[in-house]
Amino acid sequence: MQKNQTNLSLYETDKSNYLPTFARFPLAFSHASGAQIWDVEGRAYLDLLAGIAVNNVGHCHPKVSAAISLQAQKLMHISNFFVSEPQVELGERLTRSAAMNRVFFTNSGAESVEGAIKIARKYAFKKGRSGQILFMENSFHGRTLATIAAGKKAYQKGFGPIPEGFQSLPFNDIQAARAAINKDIAAVILEPIQGEGGVVPADTDYLKAMRQLCDEQGVLLIFDEIQCGIGRSGKLFAKDLYGVQPDIMTLAKGLGGGMPVGAFLCTEKVAAEIDGGDHGTTFGGNPLACAAALATLKVIEEEGLCGAARHTGAWLTEKLEGLKKRFPNHIKEIRGKGLMLGVVMHSEAKPIVMALLERAIIANATAGNVLRLVPPLNIRKQELEVFLNAFEEILNSMKA
Ligand SMILES: Cc1ncc(COP(=O)(O)O)c(C=O)c1O
Repeated sequence: MQKNQTNLSLYETDKSNYLPTFARFPLAFSHASGAQIWDVEGRAYLDLLAGIAVNNVGHCHPKVSAAISLQAQKLMHISNFFVSEPQVELGERLTRSAAMNRVFFTNSGAESVEGAIKIARKYAFKKGRSGQILFMENSFHGRTLATIAAGKKAYQKGFGPIPEGFQSLPFNDIQAARAAINKDIAAVILEPIQGEGGVVPADTDYLKAMRQLCDEQGVLLIFDEIQCGIGRSGKLFAKDLYGVQPDIMTLAKGLGGGMPVGAFLCTEKVAAEIDGGDHGTTFGGNPLACAAALATLKVIEEEGLCGAARHTGAWLTEKLEGLKKRFPNHIKEIRGKGLMLGVVMHSEAKPIVMALLERAIIANATAGNVLRLVPPLNIRKQELEVFLNAFEEILNSMKA
């Protein structure tokens, strides 16, 4: 590759090679630290997207980078026929902190959900039940065939035949759940806080009633914590914010501090129905990925980042509520938990994303009219003030 590449030159080259699946910005980043990220031309940006809720400990946290370099010099990969220290330690740490019994490591969110669906179906099969899975409207669980089957119809178009046995339910509607859940259902999967669906938190009463309903009918409850987990909600896992324990939980995104690593965890009841050879992976949970995840979890604990997500999130929410009061014609609602916040606009959020980008601030629009803010959990208030000032300026420039 030639030297002195620009944002545009890299964008153009990428465009001719990469499959045209993403509507990419003409921006190429070269390095980052904390909540700051620099493009190849040297411009610094404030990153409120954090790789879509991935860089929870900030970009290139020195302790995570050090753990990766150290592990890279010792042992990067072995087959899952063998055991490694980082994987064992991570497995112990995750099962303990999640109060679950078993774990399986993956490389991504969609793979975690695939695995969760597989073990739920295997459990149902052993109990002589069908493999029917209920999922929530506006949920997002990934882009593999099974995960698009558990998602919105738009993502299924052109990819048929779609795996069978998935049925949607309105979110936060316990009456609809009551009508649909019976002994023929294998599992219910939901995000405790919907991410791609527009940052929509579940109601506590709803999750509690859902737990009870699933127990009554012998149905497994799967929480997809890929976006809302790893400290983002203000607790290490959103399930603990709600005080509701699932049978299966999926993780990815923030788990590796930027390294691709995911996991699904389950109770012993579910694990007891899984047989040798039921599932597998070559890369999932390799020593390098696990060393990164371990370092990430230690940083979250040592630096109190769950508390930081709660406090900074509450502070930011208050500031955004202030803007909502001043700009009621533009801002409809502020919602979310911890540092997973959505500013619901009366109009499309994309023009705001573009206006923020012009001011070197990265955020994103989801569900059409929601400005999604999922910054590093250790972002400083001074950094968020830069965003708040820019946002105010943009709101001022918008027509009433
Ligand atoms: C809740 C949830 N589940 C699953 C996924 C899929 O994760 P991945 O893109 O790593 O496959 C995502 C990604 O946005 C997500 O937010």
